[in-house]
Amino acid sequence: MTADQHRSPIAELAHLAALIAEHAARYHRDDAPAISDAEYDALVRRNAELEALHPELVRADSPSRAVGAKPAAQFGKIVHARAMLSLDNAFDAASVVEFDARVRRFLNLAADVEVALTAEPKIDGLSASLRYEGGVLVHGATRGDGTTGEDVTANLRTVADIPQQLPPGAPAVVEVRGEVYMAKADFLAMNAASERQFANPRNAAAGSLRQLDVEVTRARPLRFFAHGWGEVSDVPAGTQAAMMAAIAGWGFPVSDRLKVCATVEAALAVYRAIEADRAALPFDIDGVVYKVDRLDWQARLGQVARSPRWALAHKFPAERATTALLAIDIQVGRTGVLTPVARLAPVGVGGVIVTNATLHNEDEIARRDVRIGDTVELQRAGDVIPQILRYTTADDAHAALAAYVFPQTCPECGSLALREAGEVARRCTGGLICPAQRIERLRHFVSRHALDIEGLGDERIVLFTQAGWLHTPADIFRLHLHRNDLLALKGFKPTSVDKLLAAIEARRRIGFDRLLYGLGIRHVGAVIARDLARSYGEWAAFVGRMERCVELLQGAGPALGEPADRFRRRVANELAALIVVGGIGPEVAEALTDFWAEAHNRDLLAALAAEIDVEPVVFERRASAVAGKTVVFTGSLETMSRDEARVQAEGLGAKVSGTVSAKTDLVVAGPGAGSKLAKAASLGIEVIDEAAWAALVQAAH
Ligand code: IVH
Repeated sequence: MTADQHRSPIAELAHLAALIAEHAARYHRDDAPAISDAEYDALVRRNAELEALHPELVRADSPSRAVGAKPAAQFGKIVHARAMLSLDNAFDAASVVEFDARVRRFLNLAADVEVALTAEPKIDGLSASLRYEGGVLVHGATRGDGTTGEDVTANLRTVADIPQQLPPGAPAVVEVRGEVYMAKADFLAMNAASERQFANPRNAAAGSLRQLDVEVTRARPLRFFAHGWGEVSDVPAGTQAAMMAAIAGWGFPVSDRLKVCATVEAALAVYRAIEADRAALPFDIDGVVYKVDRLDWQARLGQVARSPRWALAHKFPAERATTALLAIDIQVGRTGVLTPVARLAPVGVGGVIVTNATLHNEDEIARRDVRIGDTVELQRAGDVIPQILRYTTADDAHAALAAYVFPQTCPECGSLALREAGEVARRCTGGLICPAQRIERLRHFVSRHALDIEGLGDERIVLFTQAGWLHTPADIFRLHLHRNDLLALKGFKPTSVDKLLAAIEARRRIGFDRLLYGLGIRHVGAVIARDLARSYGEWAAFVGRMERCVELLQGAGPALGEPADRFRRRVANELAALIVVGGIGPEVAEALTDFWAEAHNRDLLAALAAEIDVEPVVFERRASAVAGKTVVFTGSLETMSRDEARVQAEGLGAKVSGTVSAKTDLVVAGPGAGSKLAKAASLGIEVIDEAAWAALVQAAH
């Protein structure tokens, strides 16, 4: 009798899911199988056997539903000519009305100006971009991270809805974007006919498209709906709707539910109509997408972070279910936050089987008073992690359960876990001595938007950390010293070891923004890291500022003979400079100084500095008369909002400031400009009006 047969079926299935995933990844992704094919098959068979006995226990991540290991490394990469964006979400009508108002504010439109919106179903599939040159399909890619996708050209060519060739008259270069999906009936038929079971049509479509064997994709019933475009050499229309009609004319399926709505109320009526028909539609949808119809307005609205200001996804309400709360596990994150995770008896919600849900934090558990053993109601909306809403256990049964006590120490390293005043999060104080934090930080450091080291996945980080070769990020660059140890590991072949070491070497030169993001400092996400990199240019300049701030804050104290108030001013100035130069808020400045104030973090940076070269980030800027200059807008603007003006200026490589000083290069003054205009005159700074600004913006395009 093996050890596994002592486990409960739930525990054994969990164990099998992890084990099979690990070996599948070793085989497919790393080319480094650690067990024989027969042993692997036995694990898969045992999993199938248990699932047949306990169909209610089939896990969301069950190997029987898996689509093979992530083939990330096997597909070539395609850099999108224009980024593939995602959509901002709304969950109620009020947020849609606010979207309309936000668009009007940004464009500075009066209330009586019509802002037509298109409304169409949001199809639940995966997005793809199809590039045609000279009317011929040259390549097709998945969205990937929005900037770079996977080259799935051969697979997309097997989808009958996708034309291989466009009719005469189509633009010389055009990227058509849309959703690859599977119809509900096709999905059910496919699942019925095959051993491999997919959780829902979306997963089935994704798994079918990302197949290394094109013939597998060809046999799958994939379809395509166009919903937009990327690069186009010659845009043949002035509105979203007309553009979609053109795309339909080139032979692409376009939703026949797409409507142009003159008002936001009309758009909401389309939402209600589509929602009413949802169940009857032949494919899964998860909401309605609204887009500002006029393309010139779309261009002015631009994007914020990763989503356009001119579009919104109005999601259908979350689906709910009830199940048993089996346990509460505590996970320790990169910054030491202890997060409670509910382990649930598997339950289907909105098309997927859920076994975990978030309980957010200690206060949330107390507020909802959920206890292990309760029956709980949970909800799941879109891609969001399912969340527990409340317990539904009868009162006497609930009262008989022990109230949950949140741990006061870190479950990973035993260090004290503390809550700072005003914070909901309880954090482990163990820092880098905490293995969970160490591993999470390393994982973040090598992640896609940070150092992006291929082949250094979660399992390997854990393995190398346990072996004692990895403690801090700098150790990654010393892994080559352990080449022989690596080769001695079970399943590590010379080719895969050398591939990994080469991927690490390739990152010895790394961009300022990627490195800063990779450090995992609180509040410093990819966008803030880019802003700081853009502002400081050189890593050394930024580090110099941080060191001065910390030196002053840690009380190197006033210089000999320096008056106290002058010293205080010096501290305040240095911090203010960090904020002003970086274009960041006080919260970020504090997080940065907190990070630099820790000796172990400075040691970590010093060790890294010995291994890598940090490259300044070169941002492509359009040649413009205001690139690198500081612009101040004052007075009232008539054809645009302040926000739009700022976005335009930044797009031209200028900095926008609120105050006129000797550093100001240009003042754009509208009617009613007062003291700022006077100050500009006294300093001899160039002043232009809004029309001249518009001409300048135009000239740069
Ligand atoms: S427009 C610039 N329209 O939803 C925005 N997207 O959650 C481009 N999607 O990545 C997307 N149906 O893959 C648009 N009718 C529709 C859509 C749609 C589904 C997907 C798309 C996008 C995701 C964002």
